[in-house]
Amino acid sequence: MSTIKKLLVMTSGGDSPGMNAAIRAVVRASLSQKIVPYAAELGYRGILEENIYELTSTSVGNIIQRGGTILKSARYPEFTDPEVRQKAASILKQHGIDALVVLGGDGSFRGGKLLEEEWGIKVIGIPCTIDNDIHGSDYTIGFDTARNTALEAIDRIRDTAFSHNRNFLVEVMGRDTGFLAMDVGIAGGAELVLIPEYPIEIPQLIEILRTRNSKKMGSIIVVAEGQKPGRSFEIAEKIQGALDMEYRVCILGHTQRGGTPSLLDRKYASLMGVRAVEALREGLSGKMLAIQHGDMVLADFPNPALGPRHFHDNDLMKSNEILCRG
Ligand code: F6P
Repeated sequence: MSTIKKLLVMTSGGDSPGMNAAIRAVVRASLSQKIVPYAAELGYRGILEENIYELTSTSVGNIIQRGGTILKSARYPEFTDPEVRQKAASILKQHGIDALVVLGGDGSFRGGKLLEEEWGIKVIGIPCTIDNDIHGSDYTIGFDTARNTALEAIDRIRDTAFSHNRNFLVEVMGRDTGFLAMDVGIAGGAELVLIPEYPIEIPQLIEILRTRNSKKMGSIIVVAEGQKPGRSFEIAEKIQGALDMEYRVCILGHTQRGGTPSLLDRKYASLMGVRAVEALREGLSGKMLAIQHGDMVLADFPNPALGPRHFHDNDLMKSNEILCRG
């Protein structure tokens, strides 16, 4: 058993629903082991700015149901600079902090891994992003809430689409990965799902829509934002000209990042938070909690060279094609 006296929990990168449940779990698990939990506000930036404070059991009361993160979050590209990391390590040491629990995506884990390799600070990660794009885990905290938020929006859009005989392009987040779009498209009964991993050029798209059902109205096409958020406007302009049909665009944007976390997100976040503290006590470091084939495990941090995890499932694509034919 390792002798960790103080640990620091932080949220980094884009926020995701369920982060608060994980913070609560880390704090309560620490206190149960007589480890003093600290927080840095605004992720790595907070460490550098010494925005560091102690957390208590009551400071994490009544937050499990809240979206966002009480610790606030930020992207902090400056952390790629070795001198910045050296300064961060020295600040952590001055505060007597032996370990970090990092809640975030692969960019945030990269910073933690370097801090461990260079300065011996123990680090455990909890994968949190609505994109579900971290190698080594089938699931990330926030993904379930985001897909349900987007699904609810689609159901609402469907009502007005039907009333006005209009077609819609609904754009969802996910950066250059299609996990969110695929799940939302299947569950929302979309006519088509456009994702970066299975690209369809505009002429091909027009052909598909033309041959499928030229008279169909009130249909929904789910578009993953890809590298170019807002790309749905361009697609709409091109297809409606060619098909002589009206396509409206709805970009769901940051609505998908907020809101009450789902049961699944709260549950995994809570269990991962407890396990993260246990892992540190066992002397483990440089690992993240992960869901693999339904089990919660400790996995290595993803290899940074791999970049984000992408959606690849030909069987699911085939099934979806059958479902999409209206
Ligand atoms: O990575 C999470 C995510 O919500 C992506 O889906 C999206 O592209 C991006 O963050 C938006 O980032 P920001 O909130 O910094 O604009």
